[in-house]
Parts: sequence; structure tokens; C-alpha cells
Amino acid sequence: MKYSVLFVCLGNICRSPMAEAVLRRQLRDHGLADVVTVDSAGTGDWHIGHSPHEGTRAILDQYSISYEGMKARQLDTNDREQFDLIVAMDSNNERDIRNRLGSSGRCEIIRFLSLLPEKGIVDVPDPYYSGNFDEVYSLVNDGCEKLIEYIRMKITGKSQK
Ligand code: 4NP
Repeated sequence: MKYSVLFVCLGNICRSPMAEAVLRRQLRDHGLADVVTVDSAGTGDWHIGHSPHEGTRAILDQYSISYEGMKARQLDTNDREQFDLIVAMDSNNERDIRNRLGSSGRCEIIRFLSLLPEKGIVDVPDPYYSGNFDEVYSLVNDGCEKLIEYIRMKITGKSQK
């Protein structure tokens, strides 16, 4: 049983590539690297082909998390068929994803911070504007741990069918 996750933010240079790199590391640590594939995309097209933002690279470097080869791309309507789960980093992203992809297709769409209801925050703040990459890393790290539990549940549920 394979499972696939796509993180989506606005530019695909700050939040969603951070989440992609962090989840990939956590999947490896949990022995799930071969079962789950991870990618990220932006709703906007300004940064297509760009490496993650220097603030995202700095914090990933700090935790020795690889972002090798990662380049920004734009969300594509085909993504709805390619992924089991699309995770929007904020509520604007979620709205844009739903508008662009519609409701057909096999994938499920969730908002990242719905995984951490105890935080009482709806949106992962955009560090492109706030500059606060540490705050984003903390949310991303905690949310990805929850996402691993969620994915385990999905995989187990599906494999029992
Ligand atoms: P991200 O942040 O959505 O977390 O990648 C942004 C990056 C770039 C822009 C906006 C947000 N921009 O307007 O170029």
C-alpha cells in the first residue's frame, strides 16, 4: 500500500517546501519512507523553478534536514489524480485548491492546522511576510508528527479493506 501527500502554499518557497522536507525526514525516522511519497506546490506561479527561500533553507540546515533538488512548481489540475492527500498551509490556499481542483478526483484536501486544533490557530503564518521561520518550523514539525499518525491510520484502514 502506497500513500502520497502534497503540501500546498502560495509561493512554494517557504511553508510547503519546509513541510515537505520535514515530513520526508520524519517518515524516514518512522520507517515509512518507502510507503509514503511527499511533494509540494504553490497556488501561484511567481517562483516556479526556484529553490526554497533562504529562511526555509537556513532552518532546515539548522536541523540537518535535506532539501536537495527541491524546486518550486505550481499546483496542477492533475494533482487531484496523483495524490491521496493535499494539505493546504492556510485557509486561502485551501480555498484556491478547492476552486482549482474541484470536488472530483480521489484526493482528500485538509488544512494543515486542522491537525493541531489545540494550537487554536487556523493558518500557518506566512514567513515570506513575517520573517518568522522559527515559528513556522515549530508548527510544521508538530503538525507533521500528527500527520504521520493520520497517514498510519489511513494506510491501516485501507489495507484492511
Ligand atoms: P509561501 O510564501 O507561500 O510560504 O511560499 C510566499 C512566498 C512568496 C510569495 C508569497 C508567499 N510571493 O508573493 O512571492
